[in-house]
Amino acid sequence: MQVPLHNPLLHTPARGVPRHVAVIGAGSIGPDIAYYLKSTLPDLKLTLIDISQAAIDSALARFADYANKALAKGKMNAQQAAAVQQNVHGSTDYDAIKACDWVIEAATENIKLKRRIFAEIEARVASDAVITSNTSSLPAERIFSELQHKERATVTHFFAPAWRNPAVEVIDWAGAAPELVIWLRWIFCNTGKVPLTTTDVPCFMLDRIFDNWCNEAALLLNQASAAEIDSVATEFVHAGPFFVLNLARGNPIITETNTLQADEEGEHYRPAPVFKSVQNWLTVAPGKRVDVPAAVAQGIRDRLLGILWSQSVDILDRAIGTPADLDLGCCTALGFKSGPLALLRQTPLAEAQRILDRLAQERPGMPMPRKPLADYLRFERHVLVDDLDGVKVITLRRPEALNALHDEMTDEILAVIRRFENEPGVAGFVITGYGNKAFCAGADIGRFPSMLGDKDAAAQYSRDCSRLLVHLDRMDKPVVAALNGMALGGGFELAMRCHALVAVEHSWMQLPEVSLGILPGIGAMVVPYRRWPQAAATFHAMLRRCEKLKAKQALALGVVDALAKDSSELITLAVARVQALAQAHARISDAPVALPAFEPTDGKAATGMALSPTTLALLERAVAQAAQAPSLAAALEIGYLAFGDSACTAAAREGIAAFGERRAPDFATVG
Ligand code: COA
Repeated sequence: MQVPLHNPLLHTPARGVPRHVAVIGAGSIGPDIAYYLKSTLPDLKLTLIDISQAAIDSALARFADYANKALAKGKMNAQQAAAVQQNVHGSTDYDAIKACDWVIEAATENIKLKRRIFAEIEARVASDAVITSNTSSLPAERIFSELQHKERATVTHFFAPAWRNPAVEVIDWAGAAPELVIWLRWIFCNTGKVPLTTTDVPCFMLDRIFDNWCNEAALLLNQASAAEIDSVATEFVHAGPFFVLNLARGNPIITETNTLQADEEGEHYRPAPVFKSVQNWLTVAPGKRVDVPAAVAQGIRDRLLGILWSQSVDILDRAIGTPADLDLGCCTALGFKSGPLALLRQTPLAEAQRILDRLAQERPGMPMPRKPLADYLRFERHVLVDDLDGVKVITLRRPEALNALHDEMTDEILAVIRRFENEPGVAGFVITGYGNKAFCAGADIGRFPSMLGDKDAAAQYSRDCSRLLVHLDRMDKPVVAALNGMALGGGFELAMRCHALVAVEHSWMQLPEVSLGILPGIGAMVVPYRRWPQAAATFHAMLRRCEKLKAKQALALGVVDALAKDSSELITLAVARVQALAQAHARISDAPVALPAFEPTDGKAATGMALSPTTLALLERAVAQAAQAPSLAAALEIGYLAFGDSACTAAAREGIAAFGERRAPDFATVG
């Protein structure tokens, strides 16, 4: 039996990608699940089953609508938009699913109905076809109790809108074969989703947060209006609970799910009676708020935070899910601005305790921490750590930002390395990215606006992010970068400090900083020239024109050591490379290096976009000075300072603003 690894793509599962999937239920979420599958697996045959032909027809119309919108926005080309709609069939006859290797049930939340559907499915599909249910609350143990082959069945709980929301809960219940959970996590991760494994309790992990958050809001209606409660809640969420309930027509769902929790776990979960008498809440849209008297606001805030933390510590004490998944899931699936544990971390512990004590008084029975609050905060937030044959595999996981780096993440990687580097049983490390799209999309651009105009702060931020990189330079044990997708900016700068690079064939590298009006401050103006002088002309073009370096070219230049065809082969290669380098690996040279001259350019990026002459001048000066610096450390310092200079230019302000506003920068006016 395989032991589940945190990074789903480190497994090579026994089954491959599905060939024929059926989705049962063409109502609200079923077609969205189907569309997600077809848009990431275009060769898939997809069958939509419903008792209503009208529902099927409108689901197929929704497919066409989504594909046309994706085409219009340039997210798909014409061929992809056509492929999404090909080989999609609707039927009212279960016989159409006979050849399916995966059937997903997305019908109404009714246990008797679900059991009937599973009997229909099991009577038709092969005994090893995977069966999953999209229930948001009913435990697998119960809904699958009458299945003959339970080992191939579990819950896969999607979140709205399922074609785009990356979170999916995968329930690891006693009846499921371990290989099933491993495969589901693998296929989800391979198709752009973020699988979150939970145990088989009512409402699993994230709906325990969401349902109780909404129920608490309703219980607070004796103190404030829905609009006031939503206004206070938007400190924590993009849209308040009542606004979301209106959107999702969620009142009956909360009644149902909280009744389930109350029946199983105690009266404190009983749903607010008001859910039964109200259809639509009178509230404000996200971005708008009403004034709330300070004392009332404080009471609402305390209760909402209290319920969040109560549910969170309960989830962790009962090991329903991991702390990192809890925070990530709350943000990606439920629209929280920060995870509940991130909020706890930002709050003085005495204040958090006061809020929990108040909840205990006002809402007796609600779960309370079983250990000191600080103990709940000891976990890795931005990376996953796995062990493969004595090699520690560190996976950067910030799927919401294509694994972009910031100083907290680099410090977390450094802490993991420090924890294991002196252990005799550890041969070395692999650093890779979560999913198959990005190794890392560079430094987190969201952190830049606050340092614009402050040279010292910007230079210091570069030094802070470099603590990890400088440590890598000095390490004896090898660290190998496994590029599972694009490696941009700071992501490529991290990879180039690892002692070897391996890459999947579809990956590519780029230094896009000058297109943002800034410089790559954590090594890219220094390291490539000292490490791969044979590729200096290529790096000139990457730095000055943002040219991409494809994995195959990188292999030819000696920047990358080996190519893999998929994620599984990538990790095998990376682990083998660590073992091969166990005795020794080359260090980056301290000696000054000769540079080829900068050929005159048209001042444009490879895409044709005009770049800032000020930024280009700063770049060329820093690269030239760093090449002559008498040590690696001195050269790196030139890079940090040059980044600080670039952060004070009008070009940087324009470039960073343009990224935030999702538009092309206009450097012509700023110089
Ligand atoms: N920092 C912070 N967030 C980033 C990021 C970065 N370096 N790179 C991507 N993201 C975020 C995006 O803002 C987006 O967030 P949103 O969904 O909240 O809008 C999310 O990651 C997905 O990226 P998106 O741009 O929608 O994906 P895409 O496939 O269309 O484009 C890239 C991918 C990498 C080409 C594009 O995101 C990009 O240009 N990123 C910046 C790369 C860069 O300049 N890196 C160097 C930084 S110094």
